[in-house]
Amino acid sequence: METIRDKSFEEIYNHILGEVQRGSVDRKHPFHLCFLSTINNSTGFPDSRTVVLRKVDRDGFVLRVHTDVRSEKIKHIKFCCNTHLLFYNQKAKLQVRLSSIGEEVQDEELKKEVWSQAQDISQRCYYVPHSPSTEIDTPFLNSEIDTTDQTLGYNVFSILEFKVFELDVLELNYEGHLRANLKVNDGKLEKSVWLMP
Ligand SMILES: Cc1cc2nc3c(=O)[nH]c(=O)nc-3n(C[C@H](O)[C@H](O)[C@H](O)COP(=O)(O)O)c2cc1C
Repeated sequence: METIRDKSFEEIYNHILGEVQRGSVDRKHPFHLCFLSTINNSTGFPDSRTVVLRKVDRDGFVLRVHTDVRSEKIKHIKFCCNTHLLFYNQKAKLQVRLSSIGEEVQDEELKKEVWSQAQDISQRCYYVPHSPSTEIDTPFLNSEIDTTDQTLGYNVFSILEFKVFELDVLELNYEGHLRANLKVNDGKLEKSVWLMP
């Protein structure tokens, strides 16, 4: 089993970059899903939720996620861009925690391009008539979706980007757990230390 014990910090960083990037392109990779945490400005508490990792720009270490513009997480990020992404690969016993600065993409051309490439089943999520978190009288049914509604679909589709500035990497290991903290600036490794796990 591959371990980060014998790797240099640069190698660890590249390994994590590679794994996260694989997560964005391989639906079966454990990093395809991650847990995004934001600061809820109404309660002051952090909020976490599962999201699909859609794209990774390795050069600047920027992660991309799709969401509904009406969702709470967007409000949180607009209030406070400090965000956190958590990954776990059970087989590799590898936890990756990413501290990031989140923002909503404003580039309409990019949004149009990404929307046009999305599968029908993914696009359908954006035709739900109520905003996420709206209180409803009865549980939602897909039959309520009207994919011809011109006010929905693309109009509520949103792209979030997260620029990573710190990684906390923990690998569980029989000989001793390994934990490294890596600070990055614009995708370049700046400072690295081993930490007690
Ligand atoms: C497996 C799984 C994948 C999900 N992927 C996404 C996603 O990519 N984008 C998204 O906005 N919500 C996704 N969700 C729903 C969120 O976890 C969350 O319930 C929803 O976005 C509302 O969150 P919010 O009110 O905090 O904004 C996913 C949920 C699950 C269980």
